[in-house]
Amino acid sequence: NLINCEPLKSLVRTVPDFPKPGILFYDITTLLKDKTGFAQLIDAFAAYYIGKDIDLVLGIEARGFIFGPALAYRLNAGFVPVRKPKKLPAKTARVSYDLEYGTDSLEIHLDAIQPGERVVIVDDLLATGGTMQATVQLVRQMGGVIAGLGFAVELDFLKGRAKFPEYDVLSLLHYDE
Ligand code: PRP
Ligand code: MG
Repeated sequence: NLINCEPLKSLVRTVPDFPKPGILFYDITTLLKDKTGFAQLIDAFAAYYIGKDIDLVLGIEARGFIFGPALAYRLNAGFVPVRKPKKLPAKTARVSYDLEYGTDSLEIHLDAIQPGERVVIVDDLLATGGTMQATVQLVRQMGGVIAGLGFAVELDFLKGRAKFPEYDVLSLLHYDE
């Protein structure tokens, strides 16, 4: 059930030279604030994952929190936040991942996923795939079954998708440059 989201691209704002010279930023805030646009985006995610027996939707802080809860609600699934370090109060698992400069970490509560639970992980953007790869590691450690990786936007030219050959990767909007 793949809905064509290409028409929604007209609602995405492009900002040249952000966050630094030479980078073209795809700003989806203009899509999010459009009531039809936002609904179509969530509908497209929901149409794809409905009927796939999803127990949990995981959202990656911060921008994965924009979509995760709305999708979880539509799928009658639970929502689990994957957070930046030291934000979660109970016992956590942590994984570090490389950034362009230095490293960052993500955490999840140890009791957030039971072994065998079926999980979809969502984020706003697939760029290099480093953020998602770290989250995939967390879910695997905990024995979760990864039923899908969902992104609003994929930057195809960065080839982040190649990090996930064994998973079902859905991106609603694709950009080639
Ligand atoms: C951005 C974006 C994705 C990630 C994509 O998050 O929201 O999570 O980068 O890049 P990658 O595929 O190369 O890992 P960022 O950590 O910049 O911040 P935010 O979500 O907290 O705004
Ligand atoms: Mg992010």
